[in-house]
Amino acid sequence: MKKLLMMLVALGLAASARAADKKFVIGMSQCNLGEPWRVQMNADVKRAADKHPNIEVVYKDAQNDTLKQVSQIREFIASKVDLLIVSPKEAVPLTPPVAEAYKAGIPVIVLDRRVTGSDYTEFIGADNKKIGRYLGQWIVKTLGGKGNVVELKGLMTSTPGQDRDSGFREGIKGSDIKIVFEADMKWLEPNSRKEMESALATNPHIDLVYGHNDPGAHGAYLAAKAAGREQEMKFVGIDALPQEGQAYVRQGILSASFEYPTGGDVAIEKALEVLAGKQVPKEIVLDSRVFTKDNVDSGGEWLK
Ligand code: FRU
Repeated sequence: MKKLLMMLVALGLAASARAADKKFVIGMSQCNLGEPWRVQMNADVKRAADKHPNIEVVYKDAQNDTLKQVSQIREFIASKVDLLIVSPKEAVPLTPPVAEAYKAGIPVIVLDRRVTGSDYTEFIGADNKKIGRYLGQWIVKTLGGKGNVVELKGLMTSTPGQDRDSGFREGIKGSDIKIVFEADMKWLEPNSRKEMESALATNPHIDLVYGHNDPGAHGAYLAAKAAGREQEMKFVGIDALPQEGQAYVRQGILSASFEYPTGGDVAIEKALEVLAGKQVPKEIVLDSRVFTKDNVDSGGEWLK
C-alpha cells in the first residue's frame, strides 16, 4: 500500500513538472518590418518573451503584402500554434483568417490595427481617434485658431488611418483651420514626400503639415526643405519613437509628435494570461503622450 502511494506521488510530481515544462508556441504575424515602428514592436515582443522560458515566439513578416499576411496566418493555423498575435495591414481582408484561427480554438490577440467583427480574443492598442482629436486641438491652439493645413494620411483601409483622420476633424471643428490638401501616403515616407511636392506646387501658403505618422511628417519636411519652404510651416506627426519622432522634435524638425505605443510587451503579458486559462478583457487601451520641444527632455505630457 505504502509503495503504491509513493508511486502515485511520484507520478503526480512528474506530471506537474511536465506541465511546468510545457512550452507554448506563439505565432507573431507582423504586417511589415520596413518601418522603424514595426521593428520596435517586434523588439518589444521579443524583450518581453525572453523573460519567459516556457514560450517561444515564431515571427512572420508579410512585407506589407495583405495576401502574404493572409496566407502566413493560415500557415500558423495549420501548424497549430498555441496562440496568435496579429498586427494586421488592413482591416477587412485580414478579418477572415483571424476569425478562422479563433474559431479553430487558437486564441488571437490583435495588436495596433483592428480587424472587423469580434472573432478574436483581445484587441490591444492606443486610441487613435483620441490622439487625432488632441492633435487637432493642439493645432488650433498653436495656429491661433486659423490657418492652412496639409493632411498626409496613413493607409485609409487601416483603422489607425481612419481614426487619426476623423479624430483630427473633430478636433478642429468650429475653428478656421482649412485643410488645403489631403492625400493617402499609406504610412510611407517616400510617398509622403511625393504627395507633399504636389501640395507645395498647388498651395502658395501652408501653415502646418499633419502626417499621420512621423515618417510621413518627415517626408513632407524633406519635400518642403528641397523647395526652400520648410521655415514657412510647422510639421506634426505620430509615433514618437525615442530614436525617430522624439529626435525630430529635439532637432526642431517636428513641432510635436504624439506617442503611439507598440503594445508589444503588453501583448506578451496578456498572451501569458490567456495561456494560463485566465479570462482577459476584449479590449485594452494604451495611453499616449505628446512630445514638444518644451517637454521632450522631461518625458512628454500624457493625454488625459
Ligand atoms: C507602422 C505604422 C506606424 C503607425 C502604425 C499604425 O507600420 O505606420 O507608423 O503608427 O503603423 O498602424
